[in-house]
Amino acid sequence: MTSPLFRTKSVEQSIQDTEEPEHALKKSLSALDLTVFGVGVIIGTGIFVLTGKVAKESAGPATALAFVVAGVVCALAALCYAEFASTVPVAGSAYTFSYASLGELPAWIIGWDLVLEFALGTAVVAVGWSGYVRSLMDNAGWHLPETLTGPDATDGFGFDLLAFALVLVLTAILVLGMKLSARVTTVVVAIKVAVVLIVIIAGAFFIKADNYKPFIPKAQDVPAGDSIQSPLIQLMFGYAPTNFGVLGIFTAASVVFFAFIGFDIVATAAEETKLPQRDMPRGILGSLLICTVLYVAVSIVVTGMQHYSELSVDAPLADAFKATGHPFYAGIISFGAAVGLTTVCMILLLGQTRVFFAMSRDGLLPRFFSHVHPKYKTPHRPTILLGVLIAVLAGFTSLNELAELVNIGTLFAFVVVALSVIILRRTRPDLERAFRTPMVPLVPILSVAASVWLMLNLPAETWLRFGIWMALGFVVYFAYGRSHSQLGRRGKQLSTDDAR
Ligand code: ALA
Repeated sequence: MTSPLFRTKSVEQSIQDTEEPEHALKKSLSALDLTVFGVGVIIGTGIFVLTGKVAKESAGPATALAFVVAGVVCALAALCYAEFASTVPVAGSAYTFSYASLGELPAWIIGWDLVLEFALGTAVVAVGWSGYVRSLMDNAGWHLPETLTGPDATDGFGFDLLAFALVLVLTAILVLGMKLSARVTTVVVAIKVAVVLIVIIAGAFFIKADNYKPFIPKAQDVPAGDSIQSPLIQLMFGYAPTNFGVLGIFTAASVVFFAFIGFDIVATAAEETKLPQRDMPRGILGSLLICTVLYVAVSIVVTGMQHYSELSVDAPLADAFKATGHPFYAGIISFGAAVGLTTVCMILLLGQTRVFFAMSRDGLLPRFFSHVHPKYKTPHRPTILLGVLIAVLAGFTSLNELAELVNIGTLFAFVVVALSVIILRRTRPDLERAFRTPMVPLVPILSVAASVWLMLNLPAETWLRFGIWMALGFVVYFAYGRSHSQLGRRGKQLSTDDAR
């Protein structure tokens, strides 16, 4: 008999659960909706903020190559996600996939991990958004009191009122229904993509070829930092990281990875998709491809407009236009960034409520949270609970370290999904797979290796925080989830029936 910790929930059972009327979500999304969703959540703080920091500190004009590297890591993972999302079209993404292949405890671990990724991701992006909005407000002469601009601005009490308010408003939109949120998203995504295209097209006219020399700046040693803040790989192997040079491109890739987070969230909407078998792979791979092309183009243009050593860290795209004497474009870009970050936040929030919903439907979290609203057909209870918690978190959060936690959580999910593809091919070769990951097990193995490599490039401190969150997850599982699992209860019921 298999241990209860590794009991698996069959794919058929997962799909059947979605059909119980009181736990069923409305199926209304098409491939286009999914792609818009994907682009809506992917393009955000990563390209609008991190490009400058990375170009300046680790890769120079070769930042474009860092985006290519991170894009390849994500593409490998996306091919694995696409197989799962088209085979198991159930809310919950990687959580559901691993329940079907690895078993209950690994599924719990990944669900808990995703809650962390999405919750902190939402908070981080809300804080980034609030920065842009404040800068636009400052331009218009409206200034918020310092204590309401967040914890970074003051030594004492600081609360980010705008970030807090944004998360609450988005929570309300999500409770009102998926279709409404998809519509809001479409408009916002159009504005955001237009702004990115403006950067590429208008910026191309201001490129100076000299700024690309050298395209890959010469490697420089990094001064030994506080050990816990060094990348884990350095502590493990005594390997000294450098900035710039060819290795700098990889360091940069582990940071700009944040810019790609989100395509995996498309998979969380599988259950609300009309034709998931066909549309899930299109939505996931399509949005990833669009974003990769835009990122590479933006970074080539921006590092061509201004020498990488002079790029700004807070608003590199807008500031590159200011630096070339075009403040008008800078204003438009700031506006687009502020608008664009709202959808990133909203979809991260959406993804996280869906994972929470799926976990509670399985009884691993209280079933109270898996009832959908009778009128709006949305999982309103987890949406409201988590929305309020994240709003408070966003009010008190400062950015950087939490963004790294989001990266490690996401990469960990990639590893589990890739392994799950290999396992499910063996345990359930009979399942109909509308989309098949090519070259299994090679592609999933490469995906695991690439994700682990980027994880090792993150600071040891991030690993420690991640470990603490996961340890807490074990406590919750053994104290609650294990004994309340629907799957466990069904198993007991069946064995009692058999005994009769
Ligand atoms: N990819 C998202 C961003 O860059 C999370 O903001």
